[in-house]
Amino acid sequence: MKFGVIGAGQMGSGIAQVAAQSGFDVVLSDMSSESLGRGRAGMEASLSKLAEKGKLSASPAEVLGHVTFTSDLAEFADCDLVVEAIVENEGVKAQLFRELATIVGPQGIFASNTSSIPITALATASGRPDRFIGMHFMNPVPLMTLVEVIRGYQTSDETARFVTETAEKMGKTPLACNDYPGFVSNRILMPMINEAIQCVMEGVADKEAIDGIMRLGMNHPMGPLTLADFIGLDTCLAIMEVLHRGLGDDKYRPSPLLRKMVQAGLLGRKSGEGFYRY
Ligand code: NAI
Repeated sequence: MKFGVIGAGQMGSGIAQVAAQSGFDVVLSDMSSESLGRGRAGMEASLSKLAEKGKLSASPAEVLGHVTFTSDLAEFADCDLVVEAIVENEGVKAQLFRELATIVGPQGIFASNTSSIPITALATASGRPDRFIGMHFMNPVPLMTLVEVIRGYQTSDETARFVTETAEKMGKTPLACNDYPGFVSNRILMPMINEAIQCVMEGVADKEAIDGIMRLGMNHPMGPLTLADFIGLDTCLAIMEVLHRGLGDDKYRPSPLLRKMVQAGLLGRKSGEGFYRY
């Protein structure tokens, strides 16, 4: 089984790592060589931590040996599955799938790790809607067990079965849902994060208190503002915009503070500052 991953950011490098840990031959690409280098460094750090804890069955070097790092999409021609994990932008993703359709043989199933963009729209752009599906991993991929498997309008049973089995081979728990805005995970999670940001804006409480109330009171492992920083505020805004556009209701309106922080370049952990400094 040859497993392709496009986008070597926090999600793509994690997906590639877990696929390699599961013994698949992996090709990982990104449009920037710096991102590819950062992705590789992140995988090395994660693999050595897992090895220290005795959670790897092969050495980090052996696992990395399964991964080809490339910027050449031609390497994906004979992939059985290509998972896309690039920037959360519908136009950019659709363009990538149109290009991939001309490169990857008809055997190849396409999956998107999108947090919120309609799977059916990307499936149409790919020209192979029956062999297209959402494969939504959680962050950090090596530690989180859920994969939300999202069927587009024309996804075939065979594609759904293949992707479900592949997720299981990666040690994950796949759970199925249909293609509506935000799917299940972000339809429920993101309005909570947005409301927490609105509480900061309105001065309901300070950020530490908001996070503490949700951690201690609701038993959440981390507060919503810490989680927003971890996900990336640009990604949070993109998801809220999809929910607002797709579902229409005012309750999905992105908080003006979220919008302002993204405009200021405060994207959370990945930019060094969001609600907290890193
Ligand atoms: P990121 O910003 O860390 O990485 C995105 C990578 O894609 C960058 O390395 C960038 O250079 C690359 N890229 C952008 N356009 C490209 C193109 N046209 N061709 C090739 N590479 C390209 O973003 P992250 O957080 O890894 O998110 C990626 C996807 O995963 C998004 O769709 C996001 O919504 C989704 N996701 C994110 C989660 C999170 O917690 N951050 C959780 C689950 C899904």
